[in-house]
Amino acid sequence: MDWHKILFNLYFTGVSLAGLVILAFAFQNLNPDNIYVYLFWIAVFVIAEMKTVPFDVKGGQVSVGFAINLAMLMIYGTSSSIVITSVGSALADIIGRRGWQKMVFNTAQYSISLFAAGMVYEKLSPTDQHILAVNQYIVPFIFTTLTFVIFNITLVAIIVSLSLKIALIDIIKMDLGMNVLFLTSLAPLSLLMVILYINEPWSIILILPPLALSHNSFKNYLKLRQQTRTTIELLADVVDRRDPYTASHSFRVAKYAEQIARQMGLPYEQIENVIMAGRVHDLGKIGVSDDILLKPAPLTDIEYKQMKNHPKIGYNILSSLEMYENLLSFVLYHHERMDGCGYPHGLNANSIPLGARILAVADSFDAMTSDRPYRKAMSEEKAFLELKKNSGTQFDPKVVDAFIEVWEREKAVRERYQ
Ligand SMILES: [Fe+2]
Repeated sequence: MDWHKILFNLYFTGVSLAGLVILAFAFQNLNPDNIYVYLFWIAVFVIAEMKTVPFDVKGGQVSVGFAINLAMLMIYGTSSSIVITSVGSALADIIGRRGWQKMVFNTAQYSISLFAAGMVYEKLSPTDQHILAVNQYIVPFIFTTLTFVIFNITLVAIIVSLSLKIALIDIIKMDLGMNVLFLTSLAPLSLLMVILYINEPWSIILILPPLALSHNSFKNYLKLRQQTRTTIELLADVVDRRDPYTASHSFRVAKYAEQIARQMGLPYEQIENVIMAGRVHDLGKIGVSDDILLKPAPLTDIEYKQMKNHPKIGYNILSSLEMYENLLSFVLYHHERMDGCGYPHGLNANSIPLGARILAVADSFDAMTSDRPYRKAMSEEKAFLELKKNSGTQFDPKVVDAFIEVWEREKAVRERYQ
């Protein structure tokens, strides 16, 4: 029995029903005089939702629609905000052919989040009117925004966690930084919309250019991050290809490191860091000359000393890029040994970061199972025996055991289908 699937269905049905009931009530409370206002903001919201900005591989995305929801809530009331947002979101999902499940869930989660935010706003606002003097709505605005963000992030994170089978806390941790960055930069625009409306209702549309600008800035920021990562990984591949014997080495190391990290049950973020580090762990070889890197014979002491600089060079290159911050130590220490005889710092045992201990095993396994100019590739069986033999002295026994478990499981699967 697949508990994830059962829980997913229960959660999806529960949220959808609750959201649709709230939406039905919201429709009944609409002010018919405002129909054109609603239609205008629904159109704006559809455009915003059509242009969501993806920020990770597992489907996390943000949209400037957030600024519109909250402004609508404070200007026209909870029900109007729920209808504008839900209808706008549903239309965007239909036009974007994102599937009925996504459309229903998005509509429902927006309705619930705005309903909760609306309750907070109505509790904190000192009068029955939705428009207050500027200095009176700062505190209600902050708490209303926080309520919306907490409900929105949690409702979405739970469904992502159930569908991808990733721990909820990992999903929240992974998305939180990006969401907080985006939402805190948008929240002031929301407040600005309310201030504009108080002075002159029609002037509210002046907010559209800054909203579009905010969307573009964020999109470009994420694009730049992605392009930087791609460039660095391409550079690492070029370094691998300098030596025909190590082509795709980093790619395979990242794959083995990922399998080990998953087997060890590491949190999602750590697994991602290990993969990223695997892809670039030998980038520092860019600073090692061809004479040394491609030498088809054992290195002299001086040459070996130069070769041993590569983790430090890689560390120095990557340290200027914020996205590698959490995995710099994996790159720097991927040649350290459990007995303290590794390099560059001679760290031992648990003082070596776990990510670096994983890379050491993945790196050595790939080196042993690949051809070299002076020797043929070792068989996988023999390479695992070598890892086992050096377990505790060179390698972390827990890491080696995890890798052996992965290998044995895969071997059993291969044999079953042969
Ligand atoms: Fe290396």
